[in-house]
Amino acid sequence: MSTAAAPADHVRTRVAIVGAGPAGLILSHLLADAGIASVVIDQRSREQIESTIRAGILEQGTVDLLTAIDPNTRVHTVGDRHDGIELRFGGEGHRIDFRDLVDRSVWLYPQHEVLKDMLALRLASGQDLRFGVTASRVEDAETDHPRVIATAADGTPLTIEADFVVGADGSRSVVRAAVTGTSKGGYFREYPFAWLGILCEAPPSADELIYSNSENGFALISQRSHDVQRMYLQCDPDADPNALSDEQIWADLQSRVPGTTLKEGPIFQRDVLRFRSFVAHELRHGRAALVGDAAHTVPPTGAKGMNLAIADVVVLAKALVALLDEDDVRLIDEYAETASRRIWKAQHFSWWMTSMLHLTPETSDFDRRRQLGELRSVVDSRAGRTYLAEAYTGWPTGA
Ligand code: DHB
Repeated sequence: MSTAAAPADHVRTRVAIVGAGPAGLILSHLLADAGIASVVIDQRSREQIESTIRAGILEQGTVDLLTAIDPNTRVHTVGDRHDGIELRFGGEGHRIDFRDLVDRSVWLYPQHEVLKDMLALRLASGQDLRFGVTASRVEDAETDHPRVIATAADGTPLTIEADFVVGADGSRSVVRAAVTGTSKGGYFREYPFAWLGILCEAPPSADELIYSNSENGFALISQRSHDVQRMYLQCDPDADPNALSDEQIWADLQSRVPGTTLKEGPIFQRDVLRFRSFVAHELRHGRAALVGDAAHTVPPTGAKGMNLAIADVVVLAKALVALLDEDDVRLIDEYAETASRRIWKAQHFSWWMTSMLHLTPETSDFDRRRQLGELRSVVDSRAGRTYLAEAYTGWPTGA
């Protein structure tokens, strides 16, 4: 039996945004603030978006922006300001004091909480935001009327015609092909390890985050709240997150943070995070541009991912306002170059923190001693600590 094809839907807007993650949602806000309408689509449901577990550190500039968007943001009530981190190696802790070094801070506030806040705000403002809509391609990016070809959850074909298309659609971006000419084209690096991330019910084990380089591998002691903690331990990229018992995980973590007695509790969530560095060869082509994970991926050490996505969007929003309101192409022509400056600084920082803190089976005695020398060069010198503090808390937007 044949059924009639579902009627196609056709929508016209000024900016079509593919992806309702932090980048897409914040972009829609910044555009709306300038009077520019957008349609945001995401293939996930609202519940899926709100429950995706990601990193928990917001740079100072990210918090400044979220505060400008909503002065009552929960970042300041539920989130926790951190004025430093600890680097631990050779069994000793070394505090990097952000306030003293660069007069900036970071906030511990999980990404999914930012998403809940932004989704609620955008929906309350009447944003056209469609869940369960899967984009398949972008057409006519070289013209003034690019289109997103998509399918709604019920199978109805949807075409969004816009003045500009933005790919905020994550590392498996569909928009990327319209920008780079291929879905993969980019600068790429893999790492021979991953993190096993856990969430557990326990009080915090330390006041600040501990990044620990130990003979048994790297561990990161992070937090979530007074009774839930987030911790990571370096593991094999192919590790099965459920292979180890809770007791084995605690023993392993404990062995990697000598000097601290971890407060243990039931582990209720485990995931393996693979390490990749990626930057797309092109960030804009005609009237289509990439932001966030669609444009780049960083390894997680240093928690730059969401912050970098938001920094892209601040640059792109200004360029789109100039282009669409004033027909001024200067900023959009400079978008890739402006965004790239920060992207490559963040790539370097994330790679540097990763390589300075992790050990692999290939690490030779020479490499190991050099790595300890590198850590010493950072903690023993105000200049070294200042570089780390400046990068960790985040460069000014546009830099
Ligand atoms: C967290 C994740 C990170 O990658 C990091 O560097 C710091 C904190 C976190 O999820 O808490």
